[in-house]
Amino acid sequence: MAAFVATDPEAYEAYVGRGSQRLAPAFVRFAGVSANERVLDVGCGTGHLTRAIAAASARATGIDLSQSYVDFARRATADRMITFDVGDALDLPYADGVFERALSMLALDLLPDAARGLREFRRVTRPGGTVAAVVNDFRCGWTPFSLVWDAAAVLDADGAAMRDEMVSKPLGWPGGLARLFGVVGFANVAEEQLRAIFEYRSFADYWSSFLTGQGKTGSYVTKLEGEKRSELERHVKAAYLCGMADGPRAFATSFWAVRGEVPTQQ
Ligand SMILES: C[S@@+](CC[C@H](N)C(=O)[O-])C[C@H]1O[C@@H](n2cnc3c(N)ncnc32)[C@H](O)[C@@H]1O
Repeated sequence: MAAFVATDPEAYEAYVGRGSQRLAPAFVRFAGVSANERVLDVGCGTGHLTRAIAAASARATGIDLSQSYVDFARRATADRMITFDVGDALDLPYADGVFERALSMLALDLLPDAARGLREFRRVTRPGGTVAAVVNDFRCGWTPFSLVWDAAAVLDADGAAMRDEMVSKPLGWPGGLARLFGVVGFANVAEEQLRAIFEYRSFADYWSSFLTGQGKTGSYVTKLEGEKRSELERHVKAAYLCGMADGPRAFATSFWAVRGEVPTQQ
């Protein structure tokens, strides 16, 4: 399946940013960020986690592959002490051990090789420091998106392939991310389920968040043409409304967060 499309940062804010900004402070607490530490945010996107790290009085650096997301993050960030770079999580442009912590929110599962990414996060973190990642609970906790996948899967073979790919990711299952931290050799690995609310004003607000082509679900929906897209919209609308009047909806979503320490004896 296609890579995550990251071309329109304003659209990303309506798509996932509306919820990831609520997840960020809980993840910063889980990762144990403290004042004055140098902390990296890998796959920073529009910068919600980077700013939450800085709000904990740490020195935050965000890095992302998407130039347009990084440009947006810089514009959206008043604190000039926060820095943003464009770069690849699999080949970070930093020396060994320069950060006390490396964090990554909703990005590790998108890398072509998540184990290689985690090794790279570990390389740039000092011995005794912490690497932490959080990924979607794709199986049970990604409701705003699974309403689309579940309808798409019965209407279209590509929709079924998308749903199956997203839901079968081992990292999105209980214990999956923690196992990977073990394989990569972190010490004192801990897993916790975090939650965030995704809020929509109406079905139009919800559906429009998939119509700008961002991410995997958005790029799937925008590639559907004519009656195929209208048919999907009708089914998804019925699932959004559940027989009630149109209006605001709040979806509780869940995430798997894992942290591990870089061993002092490498
Ligand atoms: C779902 S978004 C998460 C953004 C942000 N962390 C948040 O939670 O709002 C995934 C991000 O990973 C970035 N990304 C994907 N592959 C990457 C790579 N190889 N290196 C760095 N960033 C990458 C995308 O550009 C996108 O900004």
